Amino acid sequence: MIVLGIETSCDETAAAVVDSDRRIFANEILSQIEEHQPYGGIVPEIAARAHLEHIDTIVARAMAAAGKQFAELDAVAGTAGPGLIGGVLVGVMTAKAIAAVHGLPFIAVNHLEGHALSVRLSSDETGDSGGGEVVFPYLLLLVSGGHCQLLGVAGVGRYRRFGTTIDDALGEVFDKTAKMMGLGYPGGPAVERSAKDGDAARFNLPRPLLGRPGCDFSFSGLKTRVRQTIEELPPGPLDEQDKVDLCASFQAAAADVLSDRTANAIELFLAENPGGGPLVVAGGVAANRTLRERLRALAKDSSIGFAAPPLELCTDNAAMIAWTGVERLTLGLTDEMDFRPRPRWPLDPDAPPAAYAGIKA
Ligand code: KG4
Ligand code: ZN
Repeated sequence: MIVLGIETSCDETAAAVVDSDRRIFANEILSQIEEHQPYGGIVPEIAARAHLEHIDTIVARAMAAAGKQFAELDAVAGTAGPGLIGGVLVGVMTAKAIAAVHGLPFIAVNHLEGHALSVRLSSDETGDSGGGEVVFPYLLLLVSGGHCQLLGVAGVGRYRRFGTTIDDALGEVFDKTAKMMGLGYPGGPAVERSAKDGDAARFNLPRPLLGRPGCDFSFSGLKTRVRQTIEELPPGPLDEQDKVDLCASFQAAAADVLSDRTANAIELFLAENPGGGPLVVAGGVAANRTLRERLRALAKDSSIGFAAPPLELCTDNAAMIAWTGVERLTLGLTDEMDFRPRPRWPLDPDAPPAAYAGIKA
């Protein structure tokens, strides 16, 4: 079973070809970083136009790299939400058009499900989950630029949300922290690089909700404290030592919070799943090695397995969308051509919308 996947929900125009034996024949990504860099963040209108300009080339490039013809495909999967609606429309229309012309099924993929299932396409970790395929159920920490959620994953399309951010997503706070320090965009990798040489104990930053019951997150207080800390330093550009120490202190606070909230979720997950299951971390922020190590250690302490996708499958990509297409096609879950893209699309429709969380819930 071979599926073409298309991803355009944020600032990457991406296409990939993946089969049911977990072979990634092509995984093309065109990042729009340069277009958005002058603004220090993503400008939705610029993103939508850039997707439109590049999508055909990227799809053609993926098909050529895979050495496949459209006639050899079994389905076309496209991210249909949640995300910036302009970009999502471009991807969905492209996926539907290819499917219609070649008489193939179209699969509307929830971007969050793409992240959630990415570890089943490829896992970097062996842990106690046995290496190879990560099987259901598992506890997922999905942590990206737009989301920070803890979910029980019982199967394809079967999610239970244990907690979510009530304000900012962690990736967003990494990006803002980097911007305030003049480290450039995207901020996550820049903060991680700087943090390596820093003293994590120098700045005493808050750990919002630490020690409280539940699995929700809050990061806006941490973000505000980073800004205040910068303002309290001598005026003018930050010196190198201040930057690396602040990055290290910020990352340590983020790691403490993730670990604390995830520990609570492990208890809930194990109560609902007495047979157990590994902790999985996915999404762009899961590419952070310090955070990964903390979560791996937490899983070990809790006597459960740990798994995470390889770094290149953590940040947005189309391979995870194609793979979700494979998983859904295997279950006969295809979509109609009139499927309407969904800018908001929670994985667990029964979970109450989180206060202030906007589309991040
Ligand atoms: O999953 P993703 O590519 O896009 C969304 O669906 O949001 O996540 C992007 C986010 C950005 O905020 C970026 O700064 C963050 O992931 N990120 C990182 C790292 N690499 C990417 N955050 C911390 N450490 C990293 N190494
Ligand atoms: Zn994403």
